[in-house]
Amino acid sequence: MDVRTFWLAGRPATGDSELPVTNPHDGREVGRYSVPTDAQVEEAVAAAHGVAKQAAALPVHVRAEALAHVARRLSERAEELAQLISAENGKPILWARGEVGRAVATFRFAAEETRRWSGEVQRLDTEPAAAGRLAYVSRVPKGPVLAITPFNFPLNLVAHKVAPAIAVGAPVVIKPAPATPLSALALGEILAETDLPAGMFSVLPVENERASALVHDPRLPIVSFTGSAPVGYAIADEVPRKHVTLELGGNAAAVVLADADLDWAAQRVALFSNYQAGQSCIAVQRVIVEEPVYDAFVERLLPAVSALVTGDPADEKTQVGPLVSEAAAERVEQWINEAVAGGARVLAGGTREGATVAPTVLADVPHDAKVACEEVFGPVMILQTAASIDEAYAMVNDSKYGLQAGVFTRSLDAAFRANRELEVGGVIIGDVPSYRADQMPYGGVKDSGIGREGLRSAMEDFTYEKVMVLTGLTL
Ligand code: SIN
Repeated sequence: MDVRTFWLAGRPATGDSELPVTNPHDGREVGRYSVPTDAQVEEAVAAAHGVAKQAAALPVHVRAEALAHVARRLSERAEELAQLISAENGKPILWARGEVGRAVATFRFAAEETRRWSGEVQRLDTEPAAAGRLAYVSRVPKGPVLAITPFNFPLNLVAHKVAPAIAVGAPVVIKPAPATPLSALALGEILAETDLPAGMFSVLPVENERASALVHDPRLPIVSFTGSAPVGYAIADEVPRKHVTLELGGNAAAVVLADADLDWAAQRVALFSNYQAGQSCIAVQRVIVEEPVYDAFVERLLPAVSALVTGDPADEKTQVGPLVSEAAAERVEQWINEAVAGGARVLAGGTREGATVAPTVLADVPHDAKVACEEVFGPVMILQTAASIDEAYAMVNDSKYGLQAGVFTRSLDAAFRANRELEVGGVIIGDVPSYRADQMPYGGVKDSGIGREGLRSAMEDFTYEKVMVLTGLTL
């Protein structure tokens, strides 16, 4: 099997060791990749640092054209990339195709934002003492970005760090998840086709234990991390003087109020608790239903869950595939068993075969069970009832996490109230918390992270405002 090269300052390179990538569904080897040596990592970081000034000065048309090129090429190679994502991650091809489509949009939005992003002019002659003065406020890259990316969206969550970095003129060093580096390496092939200067990007598939050296390196002043809360906060604690952006986990809640369209809510909750085998930070985990409609909702939910097609991720019809590894599935199974031992009832699923956990619905889950208060990252939902809207919203907030919440209601009043009261970064009305459009601000409060992604938000995050005052003007 060919060994994939990695990307060192924009060119392909090989190290002195290699690692396999296996398909979680059947354990088959789907690729091998070369692992950079410490000297090569040093070369990549030095190149990013060395090119930073040139990158910041790149004309808008160069950055925008590079981003548009990536969007076009991702689109041309969409099916190949979807197959690659599915093979390395075990993600059903249905969702893998969706991910590639989103990555195309992410780069396209970045190209558009780059062209729009001109800074602003402020008149300062608002006071007599500042007559003839004008401020030009622009945004300047803080410096090269270290992008540490997760396995669950091995292309689009890389795109969410690379695209805004290029958009603002910041070099980026990508450390993809060791289980799923192939999509990021394929993205490297496309980035290498652009006119971006050498050093502007590197893709370094190093083991997790080697990430700490990159995190500490002062030549990478921004660390943009997506992954688990313990790892994210450990990074932030390690480098308190760096700019650290953390996109962490959640135990997202979907609230079904008494006035909701129950058929729609049941279909959406069933699907988005289990899409990608629940391995999304905004997969539905806690389902909070107003008491008067609880039975009617569950009556609709359970058939929708059992109708989900589970199996081989390569099959066009499969909706629920394996988790990323058997170890991950075993952990989810243990959490289910712990809840059951504490009194939970299994209404659907609860079983595991290899890396695949059956779509699982639990009721009467103890408050302190891990499936209730931690992030499951598996195809498991827990059902809870609320006596009122007050109680439902309080239950959403009864979590250490706060990424997104969904509220099924037809009431504008309940919607605005949710927006005011729910302690989350995003409130989705009439749908599941799992909805994300790639241009919108995305990120959490509480233990779900610090900072926002979404193209414009990430571009702001990677830059600082700089003001230039012009004097002696006739305005
Ligand atoms: C995540 O798991 O945080 C990303 C979710 C998404 O991009 O849809």
